[in-house]
Amino acid sequence: MERTLIIVKPDAVQRGLTGAIIARFEARGLKIIGMKLMQVDRALAEKHYDVHRERPFFAGLVEYIISAPVMVIALEGTDAIAAARSTIGATTPAEAAPGSIRGDYGLEIGRNLVHGSDSVENGEIEVANFFSEAELCGGWSRDVDRWVFE
Ligand code: RTP
Ligand code: MG
Repeated sequence: MERTLIIVKPDAVQRGLTGAIIARFEARGLKIIGMKLMQVDRALAEKHYDVHRERPFFAGLVEYIISAPVMVIALEGTDAIAAARSTIGATTPAEAAPGSIRGDYGLEIGRNLVHGSDSVENGEIEVANFFSEAELCGGWSRDVDRWVFE
């Protein structure tokens, strides 16, 4: 089982799309093991986007992610990283496939609604950066699991 960190970004929360976005991951079969509404502080935002520190969009990206509350969600499932990223869609919403979150709800890269971890290793790191162990229900048994996981 892989773990991925999903961030329903400030634009999506402000636009009232939180529920619609969570529903897509749930319907896919991914299991919620943690979820909270939070205001990301600058230090955590800079840590989360550290890989982009030298990019021209870094400052704007940090301002965007700290500008309003976000819903952070830890998901678990088979191939959770790839499954969540395909549900999210391409980084640039104009190129994202219809049916994906960004393809259905977004237009610009700087307001692309959702984050999803990009590797198994980063999924583990990011979940740990945003959640304490006590905030996670890791390994809970969902009654439908046998109809989702073979
Ligand atoms: P994410 O990390 O949010 O899931 O998105 P991603 O993997 O599809 O894209 P990534 O390359 O990791 O970029 C992280 C976020 O930075 C913003 N961005 N802006 N203005 C720009 O050229 C630009 N490029 C990236 C986007 O918010 C992107 O999701
Ligand atoms: Mg990324």
